[in-house]
Amino acid sequence: MRVRPTLAIVDGSEPAFSFPLHVGRPNPGKRQRFFELANGMFDRNWLTNSGPLVEEFERRISAYVGVKHCVSTCNATVALELATRAADLHGEVIVPSFTFIATAHALQWQGITPVFCDIDPATHCLDPQRVEEMITPRTTGIIGVHLWGRSCDVEALTEISRRRNLTLVFDAAHAFGCSCKGKMVGGFGLAEVFSFHATKFFNTFEGGAVVTNDDALAERVRLMRNFGFAGYDKVIYIGTNGKMPEVSAAMGLSGMESLEEFIAVNRRNYDAYRSGLAGLPGVEIISYDEEDKYNFHYVVVEVDGNECGLERDSLLKVLHAENVLARRYFWPGCHRMEPYRSYFPHAGLLLPATERVSSRVLILPTGMTVDPGEIDIVCAIIRTALAQAGRVRGALVRSEQASVPLEVENAG
Ligand SMILES: Cc1ncc(COP(=O)(O)O)c(C=O)c1O
Repeated sequence: MRVRPTLAIVDGSEPAFSFPLHVGRPNPGKRQRFFELANGMFDRNWLTNSGPLVEEFERRISAYVGVKHCVSTCNATVALELATRAADLHGEVIVPSFTFIATAHALQWQGITPVFCDIDPATHCLDPQRVEEMITPRTTGIIGVHLWGRSCDVEALTEISRRRNLTLVFDAAHAFGCSCKGKMVGGFGLAEVFSFHATKFFNTFEGGAVVTNDDALAERVRLMRNFGFAGYDKVIYIGTNGKMPEVSAAMGLSGMESLEEFIAVNRRNYDAYRSGLAGLPGVEIISYDEEDKYNFHYVVVEVDGNECGLERDSLLKVLHAENVLARRYFWPGCHRMEPYRSYFPHAGLLLPATERVSSRVLILPTGMTVDPGEIDIVCAIIRTALAQAGRVRGALVRSEQASVPLEVENAG
């Protein structure tokens, strides 16, 4: 197993990478195919407003996921706003705090109160037992987030929502291409929402979709996506501009042709990390079971500082010094960000698992632009850092001390 002879943060050596290794670099599909589709768009001079590429993209997504309707959108945040509004969510909606801020913002933006619920530390998704405890007379729905592409406990959440007469929607931003107990994510709850943002494993530059088997909901989302227009000069509903443009659909259609390749590369990279980090106490990579499909887009490790000798944030500094730009998704949790931090200053008391997991999670770079040789180096940096944990801690203390006079100067 490779180790690094030196560490930039301790020894002042050159970073292991001369270029930044980002999390979420876009996966390029077949560029030629994209240009062919984009050329057709210019030939037709049809750039947006339900053009043929968007229609074809929606057909392809619904067929792939196995749902009746796919309504594409300009991004997943707007898709969440449209889905929750079309589903008539109001009052309070239960959501995890351990998610990207858009899950909460999509509700608050519409005057709906997001009620933050704790996660199951084993799955990082909503804990159904805690959900039950958060229900009040004002609760109208639950939004589960299939974090990292690993699905929520769909069965338990469905049972709760039926018994308590609540609407269940899923934020499936991470879970395109994933399944739950053999059924593709996209067909659960009243509706699910995908993100096709450039940082996702499959992208349309910016983009998203509401997918559903409910005819009436799909119809409402379609109307609302286009200002409520039901024909020329005829507005029959409140709406916004949530349309996906043709150029995004061209990107999506060309990306669909490489979907299996993207997943295979992510799987290869995940396996390389798994074996590269194997046996390191206190550094655990999350697992994906073999029964279901995953897109393996998130390489997530949990760092237990007591066990491995370095806290997650110290390891992050070691990696950044080597140009490995690992991320702390989704630290510190939505409840510790504004405006929620001011609205619910004590929310953390009910979110012990969220607070613990979000302080330990580190996301490592993967995707088509990262290869197993590079992953070997990233794992070697981590191994060396842990083997020299005392030296790393010393170097970090020294660098913090060295930065004190600067801060004092700036403060003046
Ligand atoms: C869990 C989750 N929900 C929603 C979103 C919002 O997606 P978009 O950037 O397409 O609006 C993201 C984006 O990264 C996300 O990770």
